Amino acid sequence: MHQDIEEILISEEQLQAKIKHLGEQISQDYDGKNLLLLGTLKGAVPFIADLARAINLPLELDYMAVASYGNSTQSSGIVRIIKDLEGPIDQKHVLIIEDIIDSGRTLHYLTDLLNRRNPLSLKICSLLNKEHTRVQNVPVDYYGFTIPDKFVVGYGLDYAQLYRNLPYIGILKPSVYSEDSNKPQNQHQSMAENQL
Ligand code: PRP
Ligand code: MN
Ligand code: MG
Repeated sequence: MHQDIEEILISEEQLQAKIKHLGEQISQDYDGKNLLLLGTLKGAVPFIADLARAINLPLELDYMAVASYGNSTQSSGIVRIIKDLEGPIDQKHVLIIEDIIDSGRTLHYLTDLLNRRNPLSLKICSLLNKEHTRVQNVPVDYYGFTIPDKFVVGYGLDYAQLYRNLPYIGILKPSVYSEDSNKPQNQHQSMAENQL
């Protein structure tokens, strides 16, 4: 285990078993449909890579990057596009692939934006779901695990851009960020600070 990790919350084996199951479910639900998996950069990259290979259907992959403005004490909820999709989605069934839903701000903004482009359907698949930290309500169609309000890293999730390459989801030791006055308020705070 990595020295900065307090506890492994979800092991590599648990992640892979759940992804296999999600892949089977999505394969059934989207059979015969024009499926586009939309990954959000950067956190969802390991998840979308494994999930796509667990889906037994023809599908397309594309990515969007969004960033929210904020500071260490307050998040404004304003989100901007860093990288957009390559093409139109009006002939596609879009499934957004996220690593985690925390406040819900990222997905609230994204679903609002994408719905205005008239996809054939728009659904959300998030590996992790922190349900007691929601500021914006977003409907989650598929999710892997509901987790407590702890700062988690690994399998795509970062603290100050690190730990994304861990193969499991772990709880970060508070000592790693306790001396940092910009201690994150939620999962994307460190990213928000980078944008200021
Ligand atoms: C994180 C995470 C989700 C989002 C969830 O992304 O990957 O996309 O925050 O938080 P929310 O529900 O409160 O909006 P981040 O903005 O840190 O970018 P990253 O994926 O590049 O790490
Ligand atoms: Mn993200
Ligand atoms: Mg982040």
